[in-house]
Amino acid sequence: MDEMALSNLGSRTAADRAISADGVIRLALNHPPPVPDVFNPIVSEAMNRVLATTPPAELMATHRWMGTEKDRQLGAVFVARRLGDRPDPDRIIITHSTQAAVHMLLPTVVGEVRPLAVEQMSYPPIRSFAARYGIRVVDVAIDGHGLNPNAFEQVCRRDRPAALYLLSTFQNPTTVTMSVGRRKEIAAIARRHQVQIIEDDIYSLLAASSLPPISAFVPELSWYLLGTAKSFSAGLKLAFVVAPNGADAAQAFWPGIRATYWMASPVSAALMAELISSGDDLKILDAVKIELAARHHLVVNGLSGKWLASDPGCLHVWIPLKGVSSNRTAAALLRDGVQVADSASYARDGWIPPEAIRIGIGNPESRSVLREAISRIRRALP
Ligand SMILES: Cc1ncc(COP(=O)(O)O)c(C=O)c1O
Repeated sequence: MDEMALSNLGSRTAADRAISADGVIRLALNHPPPVPDVFNPIVSEAMNRVLATTPPAELMATHRWMGTEKDRQLGAVFVARRLGDRPDPDRIIITHSTQAAVHMLLPTVVGEVRPLAVEQMSYPPIRSFAARYGIRVVDVAIDGHGLNPNAFEQVCRRDRPAALYLLSTFQNPTTVTMSVGRRKEIAAIARRHQVQIIEDDIYSLLAASSLPPISAFVPELSWYLLGTAKSFSAGLKLAFVVAPNGADAAQAFWPGIRATYWMASPVSAALMAELISSGDDLKILDAVKIELAARHHLVVNGLSGKWLASDPGCLHVWIPLKGVSSNRTAAALLRDGVQVADSASYARDGWIPPEAIRIGIGNPESRSVLREAISRIRRALP
């Protein structure tokens, strides 16, 4: 391959973020908006500090296991921003991603005997991952305020799930954030029926003011997941897990399951530890929040008069369609060069969800690309 072909490949990867080689604006992806002016200097300087203290050969010589002692201590600082208290570092596991953590938890925490409960519309891979491990999935109804506690109680009685996977802040896809009262109700039901909670809190760091996770109300049954893909960058490949206790952490990850594929890259883990210890992670977060709020404003203005669910801290916007097929709307938009996700992709086969589309507003590389996509969406909406 000559140099020109190689450099074209490089730029295609960058362009994939917003407009792919086929010219499509990809709003089905849900990445944080780029903030290179802040991100680049902070991360470059932090990386230099990491390499100045740990030579590359030492840094990359071996696996990171559950994270070094320092990683886990700083991980406790990081998750405390959401949980309130700093958990014992023995309960913390640094993983390669939220998906990697879920892959480890499904066979150990759920297993094949009892089912996994999920929100009726949820992050699509959870169903395909469960299928890989022969795990039956049962749906729990959601309403305008999130997971419905009565429906959860009923599922607990009828199906005896081993665990519940859910998002309590900026639910995917509906954007709903549960009230504190409802979080406490879900925690109490889980405790009553001894159902473990796998709480994916990946969108929560961008909220202007955040509510305590459900895991804070029922820590002895909770696996709390705080990934960095939606607040810092998807390519950092890092997620912090808080286990109910140190023994469960060791049993579900290392040395309990002698797999290494879920382990964080030492480079990412050391970089994140450095960012947390200097507090520079908060500067990146602030920049992402500012850019996201500006994009949110742009979307709300561009779609004024249309029905939508959104929040200035939420990466995605949910657009209910009045009596119009979401599938056909998504197909028409794709023909017009905008890729969006339709509601059926979040539901199990055989259940028809309310017609709606979800758009990720952080993925386009610039506000002007997002503005163009929104004007095409406006034309396509009823
Ligand atoms: C709810 C939810 N969890 C997890 C992920 C993926 O996170 P990670 O890259 O850490 O596996 C996504 C990405 O779309 C998501 O929407």
